[in-house]
Amino acid sequence: MEVKILSAKFDLEDGHKLEIAKQHGAYGTLDKLFAMKPEEVIEEVKASGLRGRGGAGFPAGVKWGFLPKGTGKPVYLAVNSDESEPATFKDRYILVKDPHMMIEGIIICSYAIGSHDTYIYIRGEYTSQVKALQAAIDEAYEAGYLGDKVAGHDFKLEVTVHRGAGAYVCGEETGLLESIEGKKGQPRAKPPFPAVSGLYGCPTIINNVQSIASLPFILEKGAEAYKAYGTEKSSGTHLFGISGHVEKPGMYELPLGLPLLEVVEKVAGGVWKGRTLKGVIPGGSSTPVLTPDEAKTVTLDYESMAEHKTMFGSGGIVVLDETVDMVKLVENLIYFYHHESCGQCTPCREGLGWMLKIIKKVVRGEGEMSDINLLLELCDNIEMKTVCVLSAACTMPVRSYLVKFRDEFDAYVSEDISTAAANQE
Ligand SMILES: Cc1cc2nc3c(=O)[nH]c(=O)nc-3n(C[C@H](O)[C@H](O)[C@H](O)COP(=O)(O)O)c2cc1C
Repeated sequence: MEVKILSAKFDLEDGHKLEIAKQHGAYGTLDKLFAMKPEEVIEEVKASGLRGRGGAGFPAGVKWGFLPKGTGKPVYLAVNSDESEPATFKDRYILVKDPHMMIEGIIICSYAIGSHDTYIYIRGEYTSQVKALQAAIDEAYEAGYLGDKVAGHDFKLEVTVHRGAGAYVCGEETGLLESIEGKKGQPRAKPPFPAVSGLYGCPTIINNVQSIASLPFILEKGAEAYKAYGTEKSSGTHLFGISGHVEKPGMYELPLGLPLLEVVEKVAGGVWKGRTLKGVIPGGSSTPVLTPDEAKTVTLDYESMAEHKTMFGSGGIVVLDETVDMVKLVENLIYFYHHESCGQCTPCREGLGWMLKIIKKVVRGEGEMSDINLLLELCDNIEMKTVCVLSAACTMPVRSYLVKFRDEFDAYVSEDISTAAANQE
């Protein structure tokens, strides 16, 4: 089931070094690139159907097409390497194992959108990843792939790495821009969208690491070759991070569209220790959980996930076995999102704090039945009433656990469990 497009160089010894990467084709697309018109590159990427791999799945080429023409302002590219969503660990493989693939992608994107300045925004905790990435950028400058004349062509490109200070909300694209500008990472109201007014008020494209790293293959082999993988509307391959209760957790590159359970069984070795499946988080902590029955019919693509009322997200799949306490899982989830709220919107700042107090009360065995309904009500009242979707990234999955595993929450507030919990203390 596994394929090797993005991960083709991951197993090479020193594949992150320019010399080895070049022997395996790195920067091989540049002559073709500069012989094309920028609009032709955008059309090729549109035709490939590549969708943003940061979570929302917006078509990359379409986004690039939103840039206004002739503004006289510089155009910026920001590469989102924040990767802070719990259960998501795909981009760091690219940053460490094949950073030149991403730099080549940056050159392709920059040429297509007419940008001469890229900022790579990387989460503060990625210490070794920053080192690896900066070393590759230094090599690329030295070899003339970045700088005044990219690969000898009349095209200038500067690439700057900007380290975050460790805030999940700075992965939200406008929080990210604020942070690069040196301000608090608080998301902006949209519109205007960044393509029109982004970094320093200039047109800006923000794309995920994996989206950008997918470009060299598309340019080299063409849109049709990319579309040969995946489904009609969810083309290509994806780096899936599979974690939780499986025998073989890890990062696997797979075409989109495969049945989820088959992947769990055949690729990740199935539920560990011979236990039974209780649920699957399909694409990072912010995606609604799937029950075993739902997991049987869902496939790993944007459409099937939507049909199952969840999201493809970042491809971070978490398998939950029968021993998982869903109430404590939800406590953990709310704790994280409350902690990461930037605080500018009242429903998020206060609402998530209120939800945390309630779930803690339930876990302590002091909850009442009305608390579970109140949690559901809060989900409805917080969601989509804030500047960004951080709060929805909490309420959407929380609602799914409350509805699909309601019995467990009810048991926590029933007489028996409350008494048992009190006696335990
Ligand atoms: C709270 C929050 C955190 C996010 N974190 C990330 C992240 O770490 N990396 C990422 O690429 N996108 C993240 N996103 C999505 C970005 O806002 C944006 O959609 C993405 O970077 C666009 O790139 P793409 O179109 O290539 O996916 C986050 C969104 C939200 C609301």
